[in-house]
Amino acid sequence: MIHIKSPTEIEMIRRSGRLASETLDYVGSILREGLTTKEIDRLVHRFILDHKAVPATLGYKGFPGSCCVSINEEVVHAIPGSRTVKKGDVVKVDVTTILNGYYGDTTRTFLMEPVSDLARRLTMATKMAIDLAIETVRPGSRVGDIGAAIQGCVEKEGFSVVQEFVGHGVGVGFHEPPNIPHYGRAGTGVRLKKGMVFTIEPMINAGDWRVRILADGWTAVTSDGQLSAQFEHTLAVTADGCEVLTLSPAEREERARRAESPEALDLKTAKP
Ligand code: MF3
Ligand code: CO
Ligand code: CO
Repeated sequence: MIHIKSPTEIEMIRRSGRLASETLDYVGSILREGLTTKEIDRLVHRFILDHKAVPATLGYKGFPGSCCVSINEEVVHAIPGSRTVKKGDVVKVDVTTILNGYYGDTTRTFLMEPVSDLARRLTMATKMAIDLAIETVRPGSRVGDIGAAIQGCVEKEGFSVVQEFVGHGVGVGFHEPPNIPHYGRAGTGVRLKKGMVFTIEPMINAGDWRVRILADGWTAVTSDGQLSAQFEHTLAVTADGCEVLTLSPAEREERARRAESPEALDLKTAKP
């Protein structure tokens, strides 16, 4: 059963989503070479608590972190620990807040400049893919339209879509139906309806799409050791399209600027 959210529920998820995005703005402001992923986690933990929310990942199925910090070949769900952030790294931070009982789930990829051309192209292709996927979302469109948009965009660049992890309904629970694969065929799958709230969170690999799980039982890494990038937003289907619920005021402004001057994104030079 897919839970259709009321306007009041969507407002509660919007508040939580805004906080999750503000947490990522904060991560962007403190992230520097030499920090351990555990130090990042502690700062995220404090920030979320200071804003009267709790981190959804802490204790979730035994996960010990207040966020996931996955670097380079780590795809998702890396446990914060002693790994340090270095120049050239591709750093994915995934934050899920629970504010007044409602979930906001969002991920960004941060580039520790200077980075390789490949790291930048991969990250910008992933960002472009999530934006194209968001544009397909409206009442009557299909879950398969989302995956097809992502797959078409990144495979053209020679990159691959991780299949093991998918987007998900979210809001009242952490992971609700439906699943949102980041690959697939347009015109197939569940038909979207106004009031559905779900994440889109493509994990895009520079090489092979396969992943393996480390002995810690959580960290997913690329099977070939190559780079992976990810962006994630929580969004609500509206009467005529969708609303991204995980936008901080700063990110909202950035998106508006981009919409105003839609010059073609140059994957080789753009910054996420
Ligand atoms: N936030 C992740 C998602 O996008 C889930 C993380 S669960 C954890 O669904 F336990 F690994 F933190
Ligand atoms: Co998610
Ligand atoms: Co997430």
